[in-house]
Amino acid sequence: MTPEMLPWVIARSTGFAAFGLLTLAMIAGLLVRTRTPVGSVKGSGMVDLHRHFSLLALVAIAVHGTALLFDGTIDVSPLALVVPGLVPYRPLWTGLGVLAAEVALLVHLSFRFRKRIGVPMWRRIHWLTYAAFTGAAVHGIASGTDTGTTWATAFYGAAIAAVAALTGWRAATARRPAPGRRARPAAGGHNRPMRDGAEETTQRLPA
Ligand code: HEM
Repeated sequence: MTPEMLPWVIARSTGFAAFGLLTLAMIAGLLVRTRTPVGSVKGSGMVDLHRHFSLLALVAIAVHGTALLFDGTIDVSPLALVVPGLVPYRPLWTGLGVLAAEVALLVHLSFRFRKRIGVPMWRRIHWLTYAAFTGAAVHGIASGTDTGTTWATAFYGAAIAAVAALTGWRAATARRPAPGRRARPAAGGHNRPMRDGAEETTQRLPA
């Protein structure tokens, strides 16, 4: 490997790191939602893990994009890191990566402003994590150099299978009340305090 190749190697490895961390953030979020403990990690510990994975994914995405600015094999401007479609290499699929990164950032920031925007709006924004994950997967597969290698296929396959399986598990257990809690009221609902002082409504949201 020559020194000129270093940014390209960093861009590729941080691309996989970002996708792996995004996947772990999805998995931890789904484990929070389905109240599934992993060893001694559960409840607020799992929420913390979920947020940390989400933040680390954003850091990896930032390094991924920054490395591309120094990659001599591709002409990427700083503007192209934020405006989808400006990267000359596979513009559709790299543009999808830019969009996925922006959606991931929006979802992460929405947690900080949850009190201001309200929990129902925060929940709606949180559904966009599926768009970010799907966009990132398609982006990596369609624009990556390593697509087609056995290890990359196993990596993408395992990540997608894990998120799909847990999403199925979430759907199957969605209406199950927590142990010791009564089922949700059909209408009206009530509010209960959340860890950070915001309130979570149990009122059903419009589809
Ligand atoms: C959610 C955010 C993102 C994730 C998870 C992600 C992940 C990935 C992955 C896994 C690859 C495949 C690397 C390989 O096969 O070697 C890749 C490639 C690539 N990504 Fe991203 N990416 C994201 C955002 C971005 C952004 C914002 C840009 C900026 C334009 C970008 C530009 C590229 C380019 C140009 C490649 C091809 C690199 C190559 O293989 O030579 N990505 N990305």
